[in-house]
Amino acid sequence: MGKDVIIACDFSSKEETLAFLDRFSGKKPYVKIGMELFYAEGPSIVKEIKARGHQIFLDLKLHDIPNTVKKSMNVLSRLDVDMVNLHAAGTCAMMEGALEGVTRPDGTRPLVIAVTQLTSTSEERMQEELLINAPIDKTVMHYAANAAKAGLDGVVCSPMEAGKVHETCGAGFLTITPGIRFADGDKGDQVRVTTPAQAKEIGSDYIVVGRPITAAADPVAAYERCVAEFVG
Ligand code: C5P
Repeated sequence: MGKDVIIACDFSSKEETLAFLDRFSGKKPYVKIGMELFYAEGPSIVKEIKARGHQIFLDLKLHDIPNTVKKSMNVLSRLDVDMVNLHAAGTCAMMEGALEGVTRPDGTRPLVIAVTQLTSTSEERMQEELLINAPIDKTVMHYAANAAKAGLDGVVCSPMEAGKVHETCGAGFLTITPGIRFADGDKGDQVRVTTPAQAKEIGSDYIVVGRPITAAADPVAAYERCVAEFVG
């Protein structure tokens, strides 16, 4: 399990997304569908990409009362996606409800991954606005430990945190890491970035790569470069 490159398909329409995936001809990269595309096109875009043979990480970051998340996860499990996520801040009860809801009648389920503190939240904002009086790295590890305790499969985190997450939660607890850039590439709005090769070295299980692939002149070559560096 793991060691794969997930392409963040941050497009706002089905046409754009399918035209992008068409460029990969026979290849079937793992695809991340986020809120923008899902809210624009609905569940049919998930079914269509799945029918083309891709694995899908449905990145909707659920966060609500346990019963609502449980029932919503049950609906998402019927889309046959491979990975879903939620906010660890929703508590262990919510995460346990999610696991129960997402488990299909035959016992199979997608991987369930927790978001800890969003990387867009600074330590200062977290302490002042959310009244969490702890260093942000301690909060991230505490949330990751809660996710592991609730039975989840892993967390989304910075590649720089992957090693510490494995130390805290066990080597088998998955780290899904965005914030990936090629050594000679543009960082864009990401701050704490690593290359695919560095992410591999630190121990990421899956890297999530958006613009370095989607905005490349040759997206297929950029994807293959990621796979060569990360998976080897
Ligand atoms: O284009 P780029 O490679 O920066 O895209 C990274 C993807 O990972 C985007 O879909 C972004 O929303 C997502 N992501 C992130 N940082 C997080 C969580 C998700 O960049 N902490």
